[in-house]
Amino acid sequence: MAFARTTADWWRDAVIYEVYIRSFADGDGDGIGDIAGVRQRLPYLAGLGVDALWLTPWYPSPMADGGYDVADYRDIDPVFGTLEDARALVEEAHGHGLRVLVDIVPNHTSSAHPWFREALSGGPGSPARKRYIFRPGRGPGGELPPNDWKSVFGGPAWTRITEPDGSPGPWYLHLFAPEQPDLNWDDAEVRAEFESILRFWFDRSVDGVRIDVAHGLVKAPGLPDIGSLDGKLLEGAGDSDHPHWDREEVHEIFQGWRTVADAYDDPRAFVAEAWAGFPERLARYVRPDELHTAFNFDYLMAPWRADHLRRVVDESLTALGAVGAPATWVLSNHDVARHVSRYARPQPDGPVRSLADLRGPADLRLGTRRARAAALLTLALPGGAYLYQGEELGLWEVEDLPEELLQDPTWQRSGHTDRGRDGCRVPLPWSGDGPPFGFSSDGAGTPPWLPQPDAWKPLTAEAQDRDPSSMLNLYRSALALRRSHPALGDGTLTWDSAPDDPVLSFVRTPGFRCVANLSGDPVTLPAHSEVLLASEELEGGRLPGDTTVWLAL
Ligand code: NOJ
Repeated sequence: MAFARTTADWWRDAVIYEVYIRSFADGDGDGIGDIAGVRQRLPYLAGLGVDALWLTPWYPSPMADGGYDVADYRDIDPVFGTLEDARALVEEAHGHGLRVLVDIVPNHTSSAHPWFREALSGGPGSPARKRYIFRPGRGPGGELPPNDWKSVFGGPAWTRITEPDGSPGPWYLHLFAPEQPDLNWDDAEVRAEFESILRFWFDRSVDGVRIDVAHGLVKAPGLPDIGSLDGKLLEGAGDSDHPHWDREEVHEIFQGWRTVADAYDDPRAFVAEAWAGFPERLARYVRPDELHTAFNFDYLMAPWRADHLRRVVDESLTALGAVGAPATWVLSNHDVARHVSRYARPQPDGPVRSLADLRGPADLRLGTRRARAAALLTLALPGGAYLYQGEELGLWEVEDLPEELLQDPTWQRSGHTDRGRDGCRVPLPWSGDGPPFGFSSDGAGTPPWLPQPDAWKPLTAEAQDRDPSSMLNLYRSALALRRSHPALGDGTLTWDSAPDDPVLSFVRTPGFRCVANLSGDPVTLPAHSEVLLASEELEGGRLPGDTTVWLAL
């Protein structure tokens, strides 16, 4: 192994690249990304300068939710490859100095998982049902759902089953799609199974695990109505006594997981997808005896506004620092509209959960300029960072996918009111002049599973490789500097701008200053010995608007 950072706490400042495997690179020409495609592109990822890869679920799955409906946690879906391919990928990634995190989905299985099939076929009273959350319906004939909980994807969170003899049965809980029944984490067998699954992957040299819906595993006793929270539930709405989000009892589960990870000589790390209403609640997931890191969704949802970003940075560093955990920073992932498109519109005062929170036409040039500035701001902050595949190419959200091609369950479950997340999942453009842009091997008969816009031609990795001022080369330069500069990565920062200043300026020691100009106008650069990197050309000694610069002091 040739890791850039071999310390036991590599995760404190790792830059981790999210590989949304269906859309990364297709090695076998079926139009769907796979392990072979990732293996072919490992030199690209190593050359980009990231420290680790997070691979979204690759397990056997009916793909009702892009693989977040897992039918077997110890195998690979044939569309992605085989267990042997996975082994080879981990080994080759390590050879390139890249660590590998897999995605574990503990809140729910697929309805095609053998446990759920057994629960259905076993009939009333089957002990197999205790692994899930079955309840009788309300109303005289049990024809109403057991409570008022809603699915994150729209509609009720309950589906009624039909018993093997054809009679109407109880209902089962699914906080996501009906094909994703929630597990019962009060059940000892469920708990033991997931610790065993962790060992299965750690034994295969995987360096870490991303935990899906970490805040959702435990439900309140008696499954009380939410009542006051009418309509579609927002994950992490902020209520710390919510009946199914962020309950205190989840922490003991993750303390057990930490014990599993710590039993390995090479340090294994967790990152939690935990939607907690406040930074202090999030920090509870990353206490010393619990998980290592958690995604910072407050940062992801922040509008491109200096005061808002500053507040999120300060609150994150304070809350996480209080428990000794590093912050992480993330701008995009496979669940949200790409940040080029979010920043392309007038920015609101509050958080941006989707493009629906924004008004006005998209100016993609402006969005791209801001995304460049945001990349340098993000990579200069103390802690770790997550990049979402394609952000290094400056990809934008594909907002005009034909309705008949939309695959995200959100589209159906919202009654065709929410187009869902497909627009950020369009397969990457690697090379060439038109679709499939090198996503599939040459001569592949099947087009990519979602169509790529022709307008991505200048954004292919190949085209950007040749252009010194491209987004790709900006990311490469920033990541190389970040790796070599002693001030960057884990540590602290000291602001030298005021909290309400539209210019964000901070110093890190030794000898580094980052200045992000979110005011509309150029500002004079502070004293420095050298300009290390800038997201746009500087205007003489001035820093233009929507530009970030890294200075040596
Ligand atoms: C979070 C994942 O990132 C998302 O893609 C998925 O739909 C839900 N969890 C449910 O597993």
